[in-house]
Amino acid sequence: MSLMYRYPKIYNFIVGRIHRESLEKRYLKISSEIGAHAKVLELGCGTALLVPYLEAGCSYEGWDLNKVFVKHCNQNGINVIDKNIFDIEYENSHYDVIVICDVLHHIMPDHERLISLAKEKATKVIISEPARNHRPAKIYRSIIHLLHRLFGDYDGINNIEKHFLWDYDQEKLMKFYKLMGSQKTHRIGSDIISIIELEGIR
Ligand SMILES: C[S@@+](CC[C@H](N)C(=O)[O-])C[C@H]1O[C@@H](n2cnc3c(N)ncnc32)[C@H](O)[C@@H]1O
Repeated sequence: MSLMYRYPKIYNFIVGRIHRESLEKRYLKISSEIGAHAKVLELGCGTALLVPYLEAGCSYEGWDLNKVFVKHCNQNGINVIDKNIFDIEYENSHYDVIVICDVLHHIMPDHERLISLAKEKATKVIISEPARNHRPAKIYRSIIHLLHRLFGDYDGINNIEKHFLWDYDQEKLMKFYKLMGSQKTHRIGSDIISIIELEGIR
């Protein structure tokens, strides 16, 4: 895994530098869509950056396979467990909200499957992903690959090649969200947040 996935503080710093003021706006928007007193599950929660923004009375559970992040969250009193996000398929609990933030581009081409599984276990699914193409030109691919492995978005779980399959500019991402059942979207910086409400659909 890259440097940022080895050290939670470096991860938080780099994510903060990349998104700047959009980062806070993103979590505030997600949190306002969650609302108060909700039972929340975050799949691929990383360092649980969402938690400080949650409204009163929310319960939070995060799943991530990055052991360092899990330990960091637990040391800070945050309920995060070492669990594969695809195990949601076998989960017996139901959640008010499942959040999938900055994860789909890591798990290509299984992104649709994860959303479908999450939709079975929640009343609302909130997704946030970047509206940009991650596919570098062929001549740069090996150098970009190396940089990601050392310092970039290589999480140590998924092959970095999967990132290069993330080929969603704004128009494509909006179409994809709609296909997955999204009724509402919010653009925050270079990211688009999608809201899938399932109440009444089942
Ligand atoms: C870019 S981070 C996003 C973290 C967090 N959601 C946020 O908003 O900062 C992606 C996370 O997904 C986790 N991840 C990727 N594939 C996973 C899997 N199959 N099971 C559990 N966690 C996974 C990685 O360990 C990483 O922490």
